[in-house]
Amino acid sequence: MKKVTKAVFPVAGLGSRFLPATKASPKEMMPIVDKPLIQYAVEEAVAAGVTDLVFITGRSKRAIEDHFDKAYELETELEMRGKAELLKIVRETVPSHVKCIYIRQSEALGLGHAVLCAAPVVGDEPFAVLLADDLLDEREHEPVLKQMVDVYNYHRCSVLGVMNVEREQTRQYGIVSTERDSGAIQRVTGMVEKPKPEDAPSTQAVIGRYILTGRVFDHLRNLKPGAGGELQLTDAIAALLKEEAVLAYQFKGTRYDCGSKLGYLQATVELGLRHPEVGEGFARFLEERCEKCS
Ligand code: UTP
Repeated sequence: MKKVTKAVFPVAGLGSRFLPATKASPKEMMPIVDKPLIQYAVEEAVAAGVTDLVFITGRSKRAIEDHFDKAYELETELEMRGKAELLKIVRETVPSHVKCIYIRQSEALGLGHAVLCAAPVVGDEPFAVLLADDLLDEREHEPVLKQMVDVYNYHRCSVLGVMNVEREQTRQYGIVSTERDSGAIQRVTGMVEKPKPEDAPSTQAVIGRYILTGRVFDHLRNLKPGAGGELQLTDAIAALLKEEAVLAYQFKGTRYDCGSKLGYLQATVELGLRHPEVGEGFARFLEERCEKCS
């Protein structure tokens, strides 16, 4: 029985919605309070049992490699100054049993193409895909990827993380149709990328968490440009589900779209309010600020 031990992090997108912030540094390194988006996603993957992290990188993504690498000078400096707590934080960006692998996507041809770049490392094993700009806050539940790995371990087929969206928003997502209208786990019968609201088969949107079987690579290799002229992961999954079961899983938790400015600010407020160091002060600030508004 093959376990999910590899996770792919496509981080080669342009991040154009955050320009100029993303001109020279990656969107995935933008912090929510004091931790970059990519680290939230890596921690979620590690909590789900992943041991091999495969980053699909592009131009100006060096900061991600540096972030998960040993930082000799910084560590020496913190050690000399006796900053033990900070030293621990710096050293623990990735646990020692976890391996980081970097593959360069030479051109940003689309998410499907980015995932295909991981094929030589993943082989025919089941694997996870995490889009770090979707921050999944689960609070009283298990981390979302762990929830999905449990579904995979039981059903042994691809699993897509989905949530309901407003019908007007369907053109921002991959939308699935399923056998039934309700239930946390449903078999997917079709999938389309960014449909117009009137054409959308449902309002169940795929968010940035996937568990896929190695078979998806065969379909990725045969992809033709789809929505927006890009090689779409959605199209490969739509082909996959014609030959094997693919499940939609309504995850427990809240998703923040940190690839958009509004979602990024919402995540910052939510996690800022819960931050052990600044949460109370931030809550007071917001209260005073709201009083001024009313
Ligand atoms: P997005 O659609 O959010 O695109 O990609 P983007 O370029 O990152 O951001 P905007 O829309 O220009 O602001 C979804 C995910 O797929 C990755 C991105 O890094 C992001 O995590 N991606 C996309 C790639 O790795 N390669 C690609 O060719 C395209």
